[in-house]
Parts: sequence; C-alpha cells; structure tokens
Amino acid sequence: MSMISLPLPRIRSDVLSVEQALAYRRSHRSFKDEPLSINDISQILWAAYGLSMPIKGFLTCPSAGATYPLELYLVVGTEDVELSDGEFLEPGSYRYLPKYHALAYVKPGHIKEKIYRACLSQKWVLQAKANIVIAADYGRTTQYYGERGIRYVVLEAGHCAQNIYLEATGLGLGAVAIGAFDDDELGEATGLREEVQPIYVVAVGIPRHRYFISENTLQEHLRMKRRRKGLV
Ligand SMILES: Cc1cc2nc3c(=O)[nH]c(=O)nc-3n(C[C@H](O)[C@H](O)[C@H](O)COP(=O)(O)O)c2cc1C
Repeated sequence: MSMISLPLPRIRSDVLSVEQALAYRRSHRSFKDEPLSINDISQILWAAYGLSMPIKGFLTCPSAGATYPLELYLVVGTEDVELSDGEFLEPGSYRYLPKYHALAYVKPGHIKEKIYRACLSQKWVLQAKANIVIAADYGRTTQYYGERGIRYVVLEAGHCAQNIYLEATGLGLGAVAIGAFDDDELGEATGLREEVQPIYVVAVGIPRHRYFISENTLQEHLRMKRRRKGLV
C-alpha cells in the first residue's frame, strides 16, 4: 500500500479566533470548481483526528478512554487536490494515519461518483473537492464499555466532524456534514474493512458564498430579543 506524507501541521495562526470560527461556521452546499491544496487537506485532517500529545498518542479529538475507534478516509476525484509540485492527488480513497500524519492509498479509481450515489445523490458531495468519511471500528471501544461504547463512538464522530467544520472555516473553506447515506454502499465504495462502519461524511470545498456575522449584529439581535421578552 503506497503512503504519502502530508505537509506537517501548523498550529500557529492569526487568521480567525475560535469565536469567529464558531460564528462563521455554516453548512455549505455550493462549492467553486477549484481544487483544494494539500496544505488545506493536511490541516483539516490534523484538526479532525491528528496527533496533539505525542507522548501518550492522544489526538485533537476527545475519545472515551482514549480508545480512538475512528478511521478517517479522504475520498477525492480527478484533480481535486493539488500537491505542492503542481501535480494532483490520484483519485480514490485514502486512509488518514494520525501517527505519521500521512495518507495510505487504499482504493484507487473513480469512486467519488459512488460516494455521491451512496449519499442519496446529494449534489454537494459531487461538487466538493474532498469528502471525508468518518468510520469506526466499534469493537475498539465496546471491548471496554460494552453497549454504551456504541454511544461513545458516535459522540466521538460528532466531535471529529465539528473539528473539520471549524478548521475549514478557519481556512476560508466550507463544509457540510452528511448523515443521510446507505451504510453498505458507502462502506463498499470507500474500501472499508468488514469490521469498520461508516458514521458520517463531511464534504469540503471552496464555498461560493461565505457566511459572516459581526459582533455588533449578533449583540444587537440578542438585546432586541431580551427587550421584547422584558429581560434587562
Ligand atoms: C447528524 C447530522 C446529519 C446531517 N446530515 C445532512 C445531510 O445528509 N445532508 C445535508 O445537506 N446536511 C446535513 N446536515 C447538516 C444540517 O442540515 C445543518 O447543520 C443544519 O441545517 C444547520 O445549518 P448550519 O450547519 O449551517 O448551522 C446534517 C447535520 C447533522 C448534525
């Protein structure tokens, strides 16, 4: 299986505050037909499920008992992600390896269309330049927590997806979380092993329109609502 080292993650940034990323985050369903850079993909995958405490192997995403049941797969089409030398990532499915901050090419080919169909033909899946399939090997968590572990895994996927949303916003990109899909079709198209189930897809691209709200607008709105309710 061929492996690709991603550009190393950056932690320093003076682009947006956490509060701005939270305020400007929206679900985007209309993307420009422009590739994403491998630097952006690197940052997004690191934010989603990247190494942040090497000594313990802990990741950016909280995980029940640090069992880390999630596996992230990046699905791209032809010329969707531009490499630093001007070449493009080959189309197909790549597993993200947090330990090395690298990608393993698991399934080559034009599978983006299959992912789109598995996601009930939601057209933003096709328009997006990267679809991140968040999948899990539930056994890694249920072996310690039994049935309750199932809940923990799904909650973790939510944390992970939110990390993607916020990093995408910080980078000036757009994302949409997708829960409506056929599990078997998506798992098969992505190239998941039998013990790994898909939970969520996050489509990422360059949004046609960005969302913005000023602090003043937000505060004025809340003041007005309070006044109408008779609150001081
Ligand atoms: C569990 C879950 C599943 C979702 N599934 C889809 C989906 O299949 N397709 C889609 O376009 N949006 C999906 N969304 C996005 C919601 O529609 C979106 O978050 C909501 O409209 C609020 O908009 P906002 O994200 O811009 O705040 C999903 C969101 C969540 C939390």
